[in-house]
Amino acid sequence: ENEELREMRHALELTARLYHHLLLHEEYGRVARQYLESRQVRMETIKEFQLGYAPLSDHQLLFRFLKRRGFQPALLEKIGLITSRSSPSMDRFYDRFRGRIIFPIHDTQGRVIGFGGRSLGNQEPKYLNSPETPLFHKGSHLFNLHRARTHIRKKQQAVLFEGYMDVISAWQAGIYTGIATLGTSLTEQQAKVIKRNTDSVIICYDADTAGQAAAERGTDLLRKYNCTVKIAQMPGKMDPDDYIRCYGASAFQEEVLAGAMSLTAFKLEMLKKKYHLQDEDDRLKYLTVAIDLISELPLAIEQDHYLRRLADEFHLSLDALKEEQRRIKLRKK
Ligand code: CTP
Ligand code: MN
Ligand code: MN
Ligand code: MN
Ligand code: MN
Repeated sequence: ENEELREMRHALELTARLYHHLLLHEEYGRVARQYLESRQVRMETIKEFQLGYAPLSDHQLLFRFLKRRGFQPALLEKIGLITSRSSPSMDRFYDRFRGRIIFPIHDTQGRVIGFGGRSLGNQEPKYLNSPETPLFHKGSHLFNLHRARTHIRKKQQAVLFEGYMDVISAWQAGIYTGIATLGTSLTEQQAKVIKRNTDSVIICYDADTAGQAAAERGTDLLRKYNCTVKIAQMPGKMDPDDYIRCYGASAFQEEVLAGAMSLTAFKLEMLKKKYHLQDEDDRLKYLTVAIDLISELPLAIEQDHYLRRLADEFHLSLDALKEEQRRIKLRKK
C-alpha cells in the first residue's frame, strides 16, 4: 500500500476520533448528545459505534485540525473531508460535515473509510455521506459488517437493514448480525460480499412502498448468488428503529424477525392488502390473482406448497384450487 493511501487512512482515523471526542465534549457536543438521547441511543452504543458530532458553528474546525497535523488540503479533499470553492485564500476550504451526527463507516478489516452524517433537525439532505474516494465505494461496502461478521458466521444468518439507525437500534436490542447498505439499493458487489459470509439473509426494510419494492429487488439479487432470503415486515409505515422504540426488543425478535417470510408469502400478503376479504367477490378476485402469482413459481413443489397454504387459509379444497389454476392457464392461451 502506497504512502498516499496510508496518509488518507490516518486522516480518516483522526477525523473519527475528533468527531467522537466533540460529541462527548461538554459544550460542543451537547445538542448532539441530546438528539441521540431523544432517539434512545445509549452511551455504551455511542462508544461502540464511535458516533461523532461535526459542529455547525466552525466551518473549518476539521480542516485546521488536520492541517496542523501536516495533511495537505488536496489529500483531504480527495477523501471527501473538505470541499473548496474558488477563492485564492485558505478561506476557500470548508468542512464537508457540519451540524451533523457522524456515523463512521469501516471496511471489513475495521479501518475507517468514510462517514455518514445526519442532520439534527429537518435540514436537507437528511443524510450526507462521504463521496466516492480511493477508499470509499458505497456500492461495495456495508455498514457495520466488520462488527457483525463473526456473529453472522456463527449464526449463519445476516439481517439487512436500510439505515444506520436501524442497525444501531437492532444492536441495542441484542441483534448483532445487522448490516446496511450506504444509502443506495443493494448492489451485485454487496450481494457477493454477503454471500461470502452466509447463505441466509433476512431483509428488514422500512414498511413503506419504497422499502417493499427494494426488498423484492434485494431478494432477487441475493437469490442470484444462491442465498436463501426471508423478508421481515413491520406494521404501518414503521422502520425497524421506530418499531424497536415503540414495541421493544423482544417484540422485534419474536414478531418481526421470527415472522420473516419467503418472497412469495410476502407478495401474497402485499396483494391481500388490496382486497376487502370480507367481501365475497373481492375474496374470489384475490384468490384468482393469488393462484396466478403461485403459477409463476419455477418449482412444482413450491406451487403445491403455496396452493395448500391458500386452501387452508380459505377453507377450500386443494383440488378446487388446482382446477382453478388449470382453467386460468387455459383462459390465457
Ligand atoms: N439516506 C441517504 N440520504 C438521504 C436519505 C437516506 O443516504 N437523503 C440513506 C441513509 O443511509 C439512511 C437510509 O438511506 O440511513 C435509509 O433512509 P431513511 O429510511 O429515510 O432514513 P432512516 O435510516 O430511517 O433515518 P432516520 O431514522 O434518522 O430518519
Ligand atoms: Mn501520517
Ligand atoms: Mn426508508
Ligand atoms: Mn427508515
Ligand atoms: Mn428511521
